[in-house]
Amino acid sequence: MSTAVETDVLVVGSGPAGASAALALSTYGVPNIMVTRYASLADTPRAHITNQRTMEVLRDLGVEDEVIAKATPQHLMGNTTFCTSLAGEELGRVRSWGNDPLVQAAHQLASPTRMCDMPQHLMEPVLVNAAVARGTRLRFETEYLSHTQDADGVTATVRDRLRGDTYQIRARYLIGADGGRSKVATDAGLPMGGQMGVAGSINIVFEADLTRYTAHRPSTLYWVLAPGATVGGIGAGLVRCVRPWNEWLIVWGYDVTAGAPDLTTEYAESIVRKLVGDDAVPVTVKSSSAWTVNEMYAETYANGRVFCAGDAVHRHPPSNGLGSNTSVQDAYNLAWKLKLVLDGTAHPRLLDSYTAERAPIGRQIVTRANRSIRETAPVFEALDGLSPQTPEQLWANIAARKDATEAAAKQRARLREAIAFKVYEFNAHGVDLNQRYPAESSAAIVPDGTPDPGFDRDPELHHQPSTRPGARLPHAWITSGTRTLSTLDTVGRGRFTLLTGIGGEAWVRAAEAQEAEIATVVIGPGQEYEDPYGDWARLSEISDGGALLVRPDGFVAFRHASAAPDAGELLADALRRILGHV
Ligand code: FDA
Repeated sequence: MSTAVETDVLVVGSGPAGASAALALSTYGVPNIMVTRYASLADTPRAHITNQRTMEVLRDLGVEDEVIAKATPQHLMGNTTFCTSLAGEELGRVRSWGNDPLVQAAHQLASPTRMCDMPQHLMEPVLVNAAVARGTRLRFETEYLSHTQDADGVTATVRDRLRGDTYQIRARYLIGADGGRSKVATDAGLPMGGQMGVAGSINIVFEADLTRYTAHRPSTLYWVLAPGATVGGIGAGLVRCVRPWNEWLIVWGYDVTAGAPDLTTEYAESIVRKLVGDDAVPVTVKSSSAWTVNEMYAETYANGRVFCAGDAVHRHPPSNGLGSNTSVQDAYNLAWKLKLVLDGTAHPRLLDSYTAERAPIGRQIVTRANRSIRETAPVFEALDGLSPQTPEQLWANIAARKDATEAAAKQRARLREAIAFKVYEFNAHGVDLNQRYPAESSAAIVPDGTPDPGFDRDPELHHQPSTRPGARLPHAWITSGTRTLSTLDTVGRGRFTLLTGIGGEAWVRAAEAQEAEIATVVIGPGQEYEDPYGDWARLSEISDGGALLVRPDGFVAFRHASAAPDAGELLADALRRILGHV
């Protein structure tokens, strides 16, 4: 019997969740092994929309520039177009992904980063290469089979698929980032709510120069209403840009009760022809695969020393582009907690906050993504496009909107309203950035006694910055000498940060006296950091002598509105709660 390989954290899966967990752990100096079932990383584009919060995480992990260099930039993402085919009639557009001028301003005010389109087959190598360069030991063709756990650790049995034999990996903690059919989550007995297989979908990856149909209305997504487009799938036929304007991915539905169609090249080409609408364009189909729309989320993300992240615990359609974003953010939430528990700074109770903070977000995004599919129906209802009918009738219904009649005017208005309502899928800035971790459920957040003011505007559409404990630290441009940086650039890197201002000396002394590593940031005239625009003063919600303690993941853990002579005690009490020592 061979001896088990040992590590601190075993990560199962090298998708967005596993790769970012490994990257964060290695960045923090935590020994880890990542195993993955296949011989390569993702070989198809899959998830792609990368939101500002994820870009902030990648910025902290030191790979933002590489992602920007490889991604399609925000300005080419945002004319979500509804049409009868790419070459056919256009039904309308919605400005998307921060490209509406007002939303663009909101994006610039909210974060130092920009959204981008980073297909998963390009994203995974960036994350994995950086993780390996920083110490992750990666094993391809290694399949997780089972695990047992005891008081000190987890023993996982894995199979080397090249040699065919099995061996054991002994870790202090196990992260199951093994995707939508997670065996780790099943073995850990994580209770799942919802339903798998709600609808059937096919992805077809193809190459074609579609510049003449797309470059004048640059977008990531072109939605197609054609006969059969509303059967199964994600609300309509979809032509998604992978690389402008030559690489594409079509999503097309099928009746899940009838099973997936035979995915021959002829079948795939027929769908491509239907959605492109110009048979003269040369097309090369690269691959096609069937998948199902799911509406499932786990109520609990952990069992003992086993933690699950990503699709393992939330399964939903690609609407709103939340899949890989939420997976990266789960991993980022978990990694610093594991680091502090493993190095003895925190009690293992800190890890309870992982489920408390992330499970409500998982439920929210699964619900949002599925609601977005249903909200596409009114676009087609406006064209009488949902009832069963012959293709000729459908085209006649669509053409009727051009008539000079009262009925046609009403139809046009309904169509405009239905398309405009799709901002909840394509411009939901609040969904991306308003995540809050309530102190009532998470011990890693210290309540400051202030009532929750709620949101002034629709929290799904509009980001609202706050320094209330449980909110992400607001972004403001500040300076340090000749350098301009974001307040978010002062936090992260696996350690806590205390932000204060002139009059906050007692907080700085208190931070320096703690055992846990706490960086200190003093913002004010003549200090290391200055606030020349006054942005931070407007956003901080504390007086100059007050303090914010920000966790390694950029969330405010503790806030005190003013200078405090007993700062040492207040901060020590707060840290005891956050680190699970009480
Ligand atoms: P992910 O599924 O990416 O990774 C799981 C990892 O676990 C893989 O590395 C796998 O090899 C490994 N693994 C699984 N079982 C294992 C075992 N027993 N042992 C070892 N390793 C194991 N989203 C979107 O927003 N837009 C889109 O168009 C698409 N399209 C799409 C197409 C297809 C075909 C799929 C499968 C998924 C999508 N998605 C998508 C969803 C998106 O890809 C998904 O939300 C994220 O990849 C989730 O990231 P995870 O890391 O959680 O799982």
